[in-house]
Amino acid sequence: MPRLAYVNGRYVQHGAAAVHIEDRGYQFSDGIYEVVTIVNRRMVDEGPHLDRLERSLSEIEIPMPMTRNVLRMVMRELVRRNSVENGLLYMQITRGVSPRDHKFPDPPCTPSVVMTTRKANFAGHSKFSDGVKVVTVPDIRWQRCDIKTISLLPNCIGKTTAARAGAYEGWQVDADGHVTEGTSSNAWIITKDGKLVTRAATHDILNGITRMTILRIAKEEGIEFEERAFTVEEAQNAREAFTSSATSFATPVVQIDDAIIGNGHPGTISTRILESYMAYCTGDAAPEDDHDAASA
Ligand SMILES: Cc1ncc(COP(=O)(O)O)c(C=O)c1O
Repeated sequence: MPRLAYVNGRYVQHGAAAVHIEDRGYQFSDGIYEVVTIVNRRMVDEGPHLDRLERSLSEIEIPMPMTRNVLRMVMRELVRRNSVENGLLYMQITRGVSPRDHKFPDPPCTPSVVMTTRKANFAGHSKFSDGVKVVTVPDIRWQRCDIKTISLLPNCIGKTTAARAGAYEGWQVDADGHVTEGTSSNAWIITKDGKLVTRAATHDILNGITRMTILRIAKEEGIEFEERAFTVEEAQNAREAFTSSATSFATPVVQIDDAIIGNGHPGTISTRILESYMAYCTGDAAPEDDHDAASA
C-alpha cells in the first residue's frame, strides 16, 4: 500500500511530496512541529499536542493554518489512509512561501502544512528492559527552547555527539552545569530518597507532553516530585534516571558519561513509571472529544 504524506491540502505519495524552495521553513527554519505517538491506531495525548502546537505558533506569530478541529481530522485521516497501527505522526507548520527576506512578511503569507506518518513497534524494545547510556553535551541553543521550533541544528549536533559516543541520547548542560533536557527528550532523576526530579518548564526547556503526563501519573500514584534544576554530578549520583519523549516514552538511563546509575539496571521507580505510562498509552490515551471533531 502506498505511503502518503499530507502537503498543503493534498494527500500525495510520500516519495513525491515536496514544498517550494522559498518556503520559509526551508530558508530560515521559520516554523514549528509536533510528533504524536500512535498506539493501537489512536493518537496519544492528541489534545495536549494540539495545545502546544497552537502555543508554539502564537509565540512566533504564525496563524493557525486551519481550525483545530480540521487539523485534527487531517491528522486522523492520514493515520487512517496509511493504516498506522503503531507509530508516529510528524506535523510541521511553517510561515509559508515568500521571497527571501528575514523579516516576517507583511501581510502574512499562507502557512505551509506538512504531515507524515511512520510505522514503529514500541513494545518489547531492549532500551526499556536494559536501559540506555546518555552523555552530557553543552546546551548551545537559544533562549526560547519552550517553542517547538524546527530549528534543530544544536539538537542534531548534540544527538550526533551522543551517537558517536555510543549513547542513546545527549543530555544538554547549561552554563551553570545544570542539565536542561535531552536533545529530543526531557531528563529525569530519582534522588536517593525516592523523589522524582525534572527541570521546571521555563523558557529553558521544551515542556514535553510526555513530561506532563508523567507528572500527572506521579501525582496520581503518590510519587513525590520536584520541578527544579539538577547538576550533572547530582544526576550521576542519583538512584535512578530516565529520559522521556513521545517516541522514547520513559526510557531508563543506566549510565551518564562514565558514571553507572544505581546498580546499572533500570530502577524500580523508573520501571513503574514506564509501565504506568505504557498502560496509559494503550488504554484510554485521552483522545479529544470526538463530538468536537464531528462538529468541525
Ligand atoms: C528538546 C526536546 N525536549 C523534550 C522533548 C519531549 O517532548 P514530548 O514528550 O512532547 O515528545 C522533545 C521531543 O521531541 C524535544 O525535542
